[in-house]
Amino acid sequence: MIAMNKRILVTGRIPEEVMTILSNNYQVEANAEDKPFERQVLLQSIKDKEGLLSMITDIIDEEVLDKAFSLKMIAHFGVGYNNIDVKATTARGILVSNTPGVLTDATAELAFALILSISRRLVECDKITREGRFRYWAPMLFLGREVTGKTLGIIGLGEIGKAVARRAKGFDMRIIYHNRSRIDISEEKKLHAEYVTLKTLLMEADFVSLHVPLTEQTRHLIGGAELSLMKPTAYLINTSRGPVVDEQALFDALRNRKIGGAGLDVYENEPSLTPGLTELDNVILLPHIGSGTLETRIRMATMAAENLIAGLSGKVPPNLVNPEVLPKRRL
Ligand code: 8YV
Repeated sequence: MIAMNKRILVTGRIPEEVMTILSNNYQVEANAEDKPFERQVLLQSIKDKEGLLSMITDIIDEEVLDKAFSLKMIAHFGVGYNNIDVKATTARGILVSNTPGVLTDATAELAFALILSISRRLVECDKITREGRFRYWAPMLFLGREVTGKTLGIIGLGEIGKAVARRAKGFDMRIIYHNRSRIDISEEKKLHAEYVTLKTLLMEADFVSLHVPLTEQTRHLIGGAELSLMKPTAYLINTSRGPVVDEQALFDALRNRKIGGAGLDVYENEPSLTPGLTELDNVILLPHIGSGTLETRIRMATMAAENLIAGLSGKVPPNLVNPEVLPKRRL
């Protein structure tokens, strides 16, 4: 039995069916619009809430937490939770959960869509066709680069990186990867993935795909020096987090044709883009839609709600990211 008197805040519009589950159990204050919850409203609304279902667009820092007198649990809608100061939440006895696994395929699909779209110039050619510039067919027009048989370099071979590797097998790609630590040899064999240094990966890959979380270690992992190691024909694909790439350095490399191109779903100062980026024809720019399928968003919302319900009823949420909080959790 869940106490109806508990108050929760949901900062993004989530699928209706999950909202119903939450409103059947709690007093819910929710963002009904498809835009970020305003910071000033968050600072006010958080004061009497025991639970928070947060989005990537909410910065959960000391200022917010200092006002969250009753907060026991933050169920984050997403696998990456770099927007939450987890150390500060743990210090206050607040539980944090995320939504791993359920968005793996959707994000891997999008990374692969970018690999195919940038190398075969799909977005550019669509524009040409719409503008009436497809006036005749000729053997040397609109040429892209083949994906089949090329080398894919995966930086961060976690769940999403592995799902990208499995798709690459279907394109007979050679798969090389770099990770904080090497994965099991048996798993490497299954994926046909070969562990290499970051330098080797950057020098040998035709496609470099990023799948690391954003941490202090991965911020600007790809800057000017790294981009200069890439082949002039190679593409950079980023479906992880914008700040993993030094966007100004990437812009310079793209503008000066130092690399083949880039497929981006995330940006360093989202939703702002580095000035000039939209003028380039060798980059595809998407609005952070890695997990953006209805099926996946329903799964993410369901998982976040299940975590919140578990946490608020004194249980251990299945996807708790700060288990060290348990002995001192707020009750
Ligand atoms: C979401 C994501 O769009 O899960 C993640 O880490 O980046 C995306 O799935 C976003 O986090 C929604 O809050």
